[in-house]
Amino acid sequence: MEFKGRDIISIRDFSKKELLYILSIAKRIEKNKNPILLKNKLAALLFYEPSTRTRLSFASAIKRLGGNTIGFAKGEVTSLKKGETLWDTIKMVEQYSDVIIIRHAIEGAARLAAEAASVPVINAGDGANQHPTQTLLDLYTIQKEKGKLENINIGFLGDLKYGRTVHSLAIALSHFNARMFFISPSALKMPQHYLDELKQKKIKFTEVQNLSKVSKQLDVLYATRIQQERFPDPVEYEKYKNAYRLDKSILENSKKNMIIMHPLPRVGEIDPELDETKNAVYFKQAGNGIPLRQALLALVLGKIK
Ligand code: CP
Repeated sequence: MEFKGRDIISIRDFSKKELLYILSIAKRIEKNKNPILLKNKLAALLFYEPSTRTRLSFASAIKRLGGNTIGFAKGEVTSLKKGETLWDTIKMVEQYSDVIIIRHAIEGAARLAAEAASVPVINAGDGANQHPTQTLLDLYTIQKEKGKLENINIGFLGDLKYGRTVHSLAIALSHFNARMFFISPSALKMPQHYLDELKQKKIKFTEVQNLSKVSKQLDVLYATRIQQERFPDPVEYEKYKNAYRLDKSILENSKKNMIIMHPLPRVGEIDPELDETKNAVYFKQAGNGIPLRQALLALVLGKIK
């Protein structure tokens, strides 16, 4: 397995063995509490779309390992405003940093950046396409909370059409024989090409609109926000924005040890009354982004083999 210099663009680029290896490194780093692995290393954080968790946890991850960051939190403050292309921007930034972490609204932007760059590029979310580092921390969370990744029953709830975290995680869990339940309004269904891919891999899945029909079967309930920014028509968003709201009543109709995950931010789909329950792991999930992203940075920068 070679990670040094590698781009992290899509979860499809990883074998099952590689996914498990990354999780094992995250576990090792978490135990060792911030070893100084990345002294003098600089990460460029190029965030053309809003972010709290991904940008700050990448910054925290590299700084805690002895490295540092440059970058921006919105494209409007860069020479993009003067008409500079993404390609040219990357040709500059590769000279200023050791690794580039990019979030962009356009699907495929991270792949383009990787083609332009001679340093590793990490996709921090490209449009409605993929969010591979979120998926890795989601896998890490499931492994920690459930003690395994194989054969889990997982329900994906909410905006499955535009939710990139769902797309990446469903593909990743197809390595682990997950039983998947896709719970959404019919207008926000999982895109057909993902369903076709799962069928080809002989992964069992069910599509429903009503959570109560499947909640008793779930080991993991992965809730998502309705992605307002991806809707071409605001009237359509208004129709679906309140499609689901989880509160404590879900616990009466599910397995005692079902965990509730969410990539966050939430905007009303999880009642805060769930936060203090042992089932709610979404804040821990966000915290798992630190060791996981530390592992990835150490691997692509060749500091862990
Ligand atoms: N989960 C996630 O990607 O959150 P941010 O948009 O805040 O980075």
